[in-house]
Amino acid sequence: MTPEELAGLACEELIESRLVTQPESRKWQLRHGPFEESDFTQLPESNWTLLVQAVDQWVEDVADIKTLFNFLPSWRIDDIMISFAAQGGSVGPHYDYYDVFLLQGMGERNWKVGNRCDSDVELLPGEELSLLRNFEATAQFNLTAGDALYVPPRFAHWGTATSESLCYSIGFRAPSMAEMIEGFSDFIIKDQDPSERYEDNVAQTGLRSAEIRPEFLDNSFRQLTKQLAEKQKFAAWFGCNVSQPKYPELIQPLDDEISPEAFASLVNEGIQLAKNPSSRFAFMESTAKDCVLLFVDGAMVSFPIKLLSNIAAFCETSEMVPGTAGDLLADPDIAELLRQLLNQGSLLASA
Ligand code: SIN
Ligand code: CO
Repeated sequence: MTPEELAGLACEELIESRLVTQPESRKWQLRHGPFEESDFTQLPESNWTLLVQAVDQWVEDVADIKTLFNFLPSWRIDDIMISFAAQGGSVGPHYDYYDVFLLQGMGERNWKVGNRCDSDVELLPGEELSLLRNFEATAQFNLTAGDALYVPPRFAHWGTATSESLCYSIGFRAPSMAEMIEGFSDFIIKDQDPSERYEDNVAQTGLRSAEIRPEFLDNSFRQLTKQLAEKQKFAAWFGCNVSQPKYPELIQPLDDEISPEAFASLVNEGIQLAKNPSSRFAFMESTAKDCVLLFVDGAMVSFPIKLLSNIAAFCETSEMVPGTAGDLLADPDIAELLRQLLNQGSLLASA
């Protein structure tokens, strides 16, 4: 990427971008995009940073960087954010809740890394940026083009551009417990039997009539934890959750659905399919049910276990030509899946 290309993306309505300026030392200001060309021409020579989120969803070469991280589960990656910093630019000392790999593009950046932070660490006023009031570096690295620095969750860090520089942040997903509890509860709520209610398991007798005695609590607690301890349901929810797209609005169904017959003729004509860059794919072997669960964009489809290697290959490939010789996707069930994914916008027909 060039800084100009990045600035161009930051002017787009659908792309999330931020500009961090430093009106004085140890003071940072945040503005949200989309920006206009004139916003950039008014900037000073130094001490500012432009950050653009999820560039991997817009620029194929940037999406390809994710293949460098194939040694980690792909569903853990959230997005690739790119920042351009003018000389001296930084977003201030802070910590993130997730793992991040900072991959240096053009120019140089100095990274100071501090200790692991607790949630009660003191912050500078200014809610949105959440900058640390006290930052003490325990290590320092000068990154030049091609260098990468891994920062584990919650470790304080502070990157300052020593020359005009681009940094690619490969950010990972880290759902909070609050999100997990809420998400899984929502998922199991729809299967609940409304007739299943609180019931007394012991006779309600006693001297203190307002008292909630432990034996009354126990039954209810057992009922509730039994629902939460359903591992298979949790597995289904987990797969759906980690495959939730970051920007669902970028996955749009086709205006005119393609019928099975029309899809079969497209396959005969040699249709090429590519994954929507905003779509997410993952799979899980379910030994309990002897099947393979495929997760696409927050939904689950189950296949017989004999299709495990086909599904695994499908999750890894970015482009496919169904119906070609030796095609791993030749199974009729998978062909039908491809048709449905094309209709819902998770797959795109390429020319
Ligand atoms: C930056 O690119 O300057 C900020 C990235 C980060 O600290 O997470
Ligand atoms: Co950070």
